[in-house]
Amino acid sequence: MSGRYGLVVVANRLPVDLTVEDDGSTSWRRSPGGLVSALEPVMQAADGAWVGWAGSPDVEADAFDGDGMRLVPVALSADEVRDYYEGFSNDTLWPLYHDVISPPEFHRRWWDAYRRVNRRFAEAAADQAAEGATVWVQDYQLQLVPALLRDLRPDLRIGYFHHIPFPPLEIFAQLPWRRQVVEGLLGADLIGFQRAGDASNFVRVVRRLTDLSTKGQVITVPGTEETAARTVRAAAFPISIDSARFDAMARTEAVRARAREIRRDLGDPSVLLLGVDRLDYTKGIRHRIKAFGELLEEGRLAVPEAALVQVASPSRENVEAYQQLRDEVETLVGRINGEHGQIGSAAIYYMHHSYPPEEMAALYLAADVMLVTALRDGMNLVAKEFVAACTDDRGVLVLSEFAGAADELAGSLLVNPHDIDGLKDAIERAVTMEPREMRRRMRKLRRRVLEDDVTKWSRTFLDALALRPGQSPGAVMP
Ligand code: G6P
Repeated sequence: MSGRYGLVVVANRLPVDLTVEDDGSTSWRRSPGGLVSALEPVMQAADGAWVGWAGSPDVEADAFDGDGMRLVPVALSADEVRDYYEGFSNDTLWPLYHDVISPPEFHRRWWDAYRRVNRRFAEAAADQAAEGATVWVQDYQLQLVPALLRDLRPDLRIGYFHHIPFPPLEIFAQLPWRRQVVEGLLGADLIGFQRAGDASNFVRVVRRLTDLSTKGQVITVPGTEETAARTVRAAAFPISIDSARFDAMARTEAVRARAREIRRDLGDPSVLLLGVDRLDYTKGIRHRIKAFGELLEEGRLAVPEAALVQVASPSRENVEAYQQLRDEVETLVGRINGEHGQIGSAAIYYMHHSYPPEEMAALYLAADVMLVTALRDGMNLVAKEFVAACTDDRGVLVLSEFAGAADELAGSLLVNPHDIDGLKDAIERAVTMEPREMRRRMRKLRRRVLEDDVTKWSRTFLDALALRPGQSPGAVMP
């Protein structure tokens, strides 16, 4: 059976979450994370269908039109949320793919749930896609979907984009189900990664764990009795943001006034440092806070002239590693505020909340220095949002070399967040940077971010996906 949509996105989450309030009433709210922010404008322009989970267990909702697209909820039971989402996706794959910063757990029951749920997503996508349609599968939660979908619907053109890092063979090989995962991905015609290094890690994994032949980025999958041989391409397509939207938002009087108000409410510090992350152990939040604390300790920065605002949005709160991180971060913030805060002026303003984009734009605009100190990150869209919001060319980006954004954002101050002394020096350099150098760097950053926006990213990926073998793939390389 085929559906009516020419473009179908399949992602773990819908762009909106169904939230159940204390009184039992429900409402739809925007979902967390960079993936949703990146794909929403693409889908709104394409009149496509988006297949995804509504964010709460046991939600059996019908498909509906919303946010300028068809939204198709996939139901997950409470056990599946525990085993597929919190378990295999976020306690096996997430830490494994992020350099085992936290030890991954391997459980056969989680893997079984992952397979079962991936099949459900593949079936839902197959129902929505028109004959010959393009289906674009997103991210590590759904790595088996490309092959499952190809079995159901060989007529489809299937793309997959991996939003997080793809680890080196030596780490990936720990996964007991490594071969099945690789075969799942190879169901796609095009596999996109954030960095060239991720794509080459994947091709190396294919070479070592399968008998398939590879040539550069192209993998040949031999035909069977029923199917012809085909090729799969793995390449880098660094994702971006709706840069013009952030730029425009940061130019509105409402956002500019709010930025001034934020600084005033913080007691008009001369240096405002900002961190914005999901509360995740990959983001290097503790490293950043530690560096800031030591700068205060050594008198290289002082309260109330300097303040750090840290927005840490709640994330994956049922996973133990996240609960532990929250305790550690909050202890550290409490200790530094206890030592260096004064009545009326804290050293660190820590917010465990998420905020609407306008408030984020105001915070970016208010900040002097943005700290992105991820220990490992696929891209980090916060870095790009900050740049897009710096409409007055004022502000310095301190950026981890372990974030995908480091490949593109020359003009930032690159740091190794494990090197606390190096990080402190970079923060000091950012704080004391001459306005001329700041403007020069920020202009360079802004040119890049405004030009390479999310529309260009999706167009480049979808154009490359539409190319048939034999057509010059070189022409569409980003
Ligand atoms: C990252 C992942 C996304 C994910 C987001 C939020 O950006 O790449 O796939 O949706 O984090 O995480 P969550 O577990 O809340 O969906």
